[in-house]
Amino acid sequence: MSRSSFAATIGQFGGPSQLAVGALPRPQARAGEIVVEVEAASVNPIDVRRRAGYGRRLMSLLGAARLPLVLGNDFVGKVAAVGRGVSGLREGDAVFGAIPPSSRGTHATHVALKAVHAALRPPAIEAATLAALPYNYLTVMRAFEGAGITPRNAAGREVLVHGATGGLGRIAVALLQQMGARITASGGRRSAGPGQLFDQRSPPLAALAPHFAATLNFASWDDEPALLRLLAEDAIGHATTVHPMLGLLDSAGVVRGGLAALRAKRRMAALAPPGARYAWSVFRPDPAALSALAGSAATLLPALVETFRLDQVAEAHRHVERRDPGRAILLPQEHIDLN
Ligand SMILES: NC(=O)c1ccc[n+]([C@@H]2O[C@H](COP(=O)([O-])OP(=O)(O)OC[C@H]3O[C@@H](n4cnc5c(N)ncnc54)[C@H](OP(=O)(O)O)[C@@H]3O)[C@@H](O)[C@H]2O)c1
Repeated sequence: MSRSSFAATIGQFGGPSQLAVGALPRPQARAGEIVVEVEAASVNPIDVRRRAGYGRRLMSLLGAARLPLVLGNDFVGKVAAVGRGVSGLREGDAVFGAIPPSSRGTHATHVALKAVHAALRPPAIEAATLAALPYNYLTVMRAFEGAGITPRNAAGREVLVHGATGGLGRIAVALLQQMGARITASGGRRSAGPGQLFDQRSPPLAALAPHFAATLNFASWDDEPALLRLLAEDAIGHATTVHPMLGLLDSAGVVRGGLAALRAKRRMAALAPPGARYAWSVFRPDPAALSALAGSAATLLPALVETFRLDQVAEAHRHVERRDPGRAILLPQEHIDLN
């Protein structure tokens, strides 16, 4: 059996042409870790931005900006090795999950990860479709938590999802539907598409009355004040994933950037009605949420994915940059043409 592995790496930050596929030593499973043979891994907007250097300051502090860098958080695959102290997973198990930002991400044939970041894969779902879910789902759960949205308080309430056609937005809409919320979708150049059960209006934000129990911003920081003004007086809250925190740390450094971020957050929070929550949400792996996803994945699958071999990784990044329809999914076990 070959002991090498292949990964999409970047040697320096920049455009898609910085991406190359190269052989790396096969990662080893240390204590508490497993090695996964990656069958499918999604390319998310954050990968494209990290490739260009975005978030470098914080990522460096987290040890996640070391070059050559392998991007990618989600994975669907098979356990290839198990480290000491891991219980509940065995070699050959079909797994899926998402890892924290790292320099050795999932855009590779093999990745080592903490076993707690993997769960048994739900049956009868194609790897490429399932790979579109973990990173986005876990981020949406963070946004719900940040905004204070729960199945109990969302039922029958009005919720606005800004950026509803995207990876996060589609999942948020599906979950909110399951909670019985009344959803308004906004933002985006595309309609929500056939088969969506929610209100397909895509009204300009300025045309809406301030009657929402919660608003979620997955689209544009520029729209943050407009969204906050749409909250009802007794609103639950608002969360955004498109906040400027990483950008401010990049441009002004950890201390000055951190203070600027704090000020920007306070300014926005002041626009929310008293009592409403206001959150800047950040992806974080969560074993409990991942196991909930294993049970509900079949109800959240994207309508469309676009698959790419590992050696087509630059094209996958361009697909994401153009905001073309369909989540970009890498299939690292497909034949690679290195010439
Ligand atoms: N903070 C975190 O940890 C975290 C984690 C995950 C994602 N994110 C960020 O959250 C955002 C959403 O992620 P995603 O994966 O859902 O991205 P996505 O799939 O690209 O979807 C973005 C959505 O926002 C819409 N949109 C984008 N720019 C817009 C603009 N200027 N005005 C109005 N609508 C706009 C898009 O519409 P169309 O494409 O249909 O036009 C789409 O509906 C991204 O910016 C991503 O980087 C942050």
